[in-house]
Amino acid sequence: MDYTDLYLIHWPVSSKAGIYEYPIKKEDFLPMDFKAVWAAMEECQRLGLTKSIGVSNFSPKKITDVLSTAKIPPAVNQVEVNPCWQQKKLIEFCREKGIVVVAYSPLGAVGTFYGTNRVMESEVLKEIAETRGKSVAQVSLRWAYEQGIGVVVKSFNKDRMRQNLEIFDWELKDEESKKISEIPQGRACLGIDYTSIHGPYKTIEDIWDE
Ligand SMILES: NC(=O)c1ccc[n+]([C@@H]2O[C@H](COP(=O)([O-])OP(=O)(O)OC[C@H]3O[C@@H](n4cnc5c(N)ncnc54)[C@H](OP(=O)(O)O)[C@@H]3O)[C@@H](O)[C@H]2O)c1
Repeated sequence: MDYTDLYLIHWPVSSKAGIYEYPIKKEDFLPMDFKAVWAAMEECQRLGLTKSIGVSNFSPKKITDVLSTAKIPPAVNQVEVNPCWQQKKLIEFCREKGIVVVAYSPLGAVGTFYGTNRVMESEVLKEIAETRGKSVAQVSLRWAYEQGIGVVVKSFNKDRMRQNLEIFDWELKDEESKKISEIPQGRACLGIDYTSIHGPYKTIEDIWDE
């Protein structure tokens, strides 16, 4: 590609130059030089290689580090958001800074190695879906849309792709939103692959600053 609409720093980590492997080997992690990496992202935008630049899996603290030297603020922070990991504080922080949160794994990434079935198997969501004649996926996606955030949902199935778009001509009732807000919370994607005793993040708490 010689152009992309949105170019993101995938995780707040760097690895040794010249090695392109996933998962990154524990001994290959390096602290990210936020100032230099963000300056290079800005250069990509200035050169017209990308329309917008952003970050992904960044905590408020790490966004604050980027903003302290940024000339162009991140347009987007792409993070896990779904009814089982609602990220209310992060969404509020990003809103104050003019950064759009985009939800990845909005269905909990069901069926993937990093995912959870807690969203699709949620009794609260199932009950709302049944009452409203919608699917659990549609209730989850409508909920995310009502949080004022972007959503990237993934399906390889044509019918499910269509279903996932049919969320714009109805809304959740207040009591339904309230029930969703009371669902027990927990991340699906912990980021363990990005922790290392040799790297900047020894624990998952170091990644998320919480
Ligand atoms: N920035 C990051 O670090 C990061 C991390 C994780 C993911 N992502 C990106 O976020 C996007 C979406 O997240 P994700 O793939 O992790 O999770 P997701 O969209 O929550 O879940 C995808 C799974 O849900 C199934 N699905 C989709 N629509 C459905 C429906 N209506 N009913 C039932 N099942 C449905 C899909 O199966 P079928 O294909 O069979 O429909 C697939 O197994 C992806 O493009 C991914 O690359 C980014």
